[in-house]
Amino acid sequence: MDKVKQVSWAFLRRHLLLLSLTLNLSLLSRFVYERGILPETTDHRPHQEELCFEKEIINPVCGASEQEAHVSRSSTHSSSRAQAADGGNKVINLDHGDPTMYEEYWRRMGEKSRIVMRGWDSMSYFSDLENLCWFLEPEFAKQITRLHGSVGNAVTHDRHIVVGTGSTQLFQAALYALSLLPSPHASPQQPISVVSAVPYYSSYPSVTDYLKSGLYKWEGDAYTFTKEEPYIELVTSPNNPDGFIRQPVVNRSRGIVVYDLAYYWPQYTPITSAADHDLMLFTFSKITGHAGTRMGWALVKDKEVARKMTEFIVLNTIGVSKDSQLRAAKILQVVSDGSEHMGFPEDADSFFLYAYHQMTLRWERLRDAVRHSGLFSLPEFLAQFCNYNGGFTEPHPAFAWLKCKGDIEDCESFLREHKIITRSGRHFGMEAKYVRISMLDRDEKFNLFMERLSNISL
Ligand SMILES: Cc1ncc(COP(=O)(O)O)c(C=O)c1O
Repeated sequence: MDKVKQVSWAFLRRHLLLLSLTLNLSLLSRFVYERGILPETTDHRPHQEELCFEKEIINPVCGASEQEAHVSRSSTHSSSRAQAADGGNKVINLDHGDPTMYEEYWRRMGEKSRIVMRGWDSMSYFSDLENLCWFLEPEFAKQITRLHGSVGNAVTHDRHIVVGTGSTQLFQAALYALSLLPSPHASPQQPISVVSAVPYYSSYPSVTDYLKSGLYKWEGDAYTFTKEEPYIELVTSPNNPDGFIRQPVVNRSRGIVVYDLAYYWPQYTPITSAADHDLMLFTFSKITGHAGTRMGWALVKDKEVARKMTEFIVLNTIGVSKDSQLRAAKILQVVSDGSEHMGFPEDADSFFLYAYHQMTLRWERLRDAVRHSGLFSLPEFLAQFCNYNGGFTEPHPAFAWLKCKGDIEDCESFLREHKIITRSGRHFGMEAKYVRISMLDRDEKFNLFMERLSNISL
């Protein structure tokens, strides 16, 4: 018996040692990642970089390998006018659209957003057997409808709500449903073409094709799609990466349109009408910043499409986390409580007021920095009447679609030399003269970015 005890203690000690080593290593890499400081290294880890090449989905390892690869290449092509406060040494990674800038607001809201879950709560697979989407939590459905009602950005009446693990899962559910349902659009013999106008959201090609489905396939730019066959067109409005409001471009009889309305919220664009399309996708990530909760929803007119989308999610993940739905419901409730005033909410607690002011300030500073540098240009937007705030407002997109002027052909590499990590226009079906830059990171990183960008010169 004692021998058994000794052996198991030795076993436990060895495991604890290993665990502590692993924890130390991961803490170290987390520290390094969060600070954007990476040790000098010549290890380019090409395999990992290859894996990270076609990415949109957040992968801190990708960020790290890029940073390391970058630091090992020394800057040769250009210089900074002035040495920045950080000595120009920190790597500023703005590749991902991780909406951490909203943390500050939620910290300020304190206990208002707290939820408590006990061990016996939400244990069943099922949420609402009366609902076609039986894993949708009624409280989450209620808060989704309430929020769209108070913002006025989408029609929810006579729509089915399908919940997903992020809108990324719903996007795949939509492709599955639309390509399988018997309709005049679909042709059972071959995969249906999926297109989107350039510059398109960089995840669409890889998420469409990664399983090499026999049901649908990525066909690229909608502007150049000429096939006389059924198709699905993805319309992202406002668009990721360039922030413009979009309409379908193919407009042929055998097409089905999926609207990705991830950014149709008042902090990003004027709300000009309630979107009223057959299939609309929304993500919780970009409204309130809770990307880690992994929640999205689809508003679907056709019952059979909603049923098939639900079927996809059942096959894929047997529903969607109830814990996440309840957390998201609470957060949306706090947002709606702060939004349901007449006219533009003046309440300091209003999330949209806060987010709108932050985005306005950031875009003003970005435009100043771009003017100061003289090497870049940005899209120009027109002000429009916003029904939500009752006045004219300009778009303030979640991403800056920056173009390098003159002879700089590869804008991503150029900025990388200044330790600014962005995503090349090539990932969006465009030229390398463009890059996409996240506008949603924390203040500290954004401030550093402003300083670095305005001081870049040839
Ligand atoms: C246009 C667009 N659609 C969908 C998504 C994915 O959202 P989720 O986090 O809900 O999967 C993003 C995220 O960046 C996006 O930009």
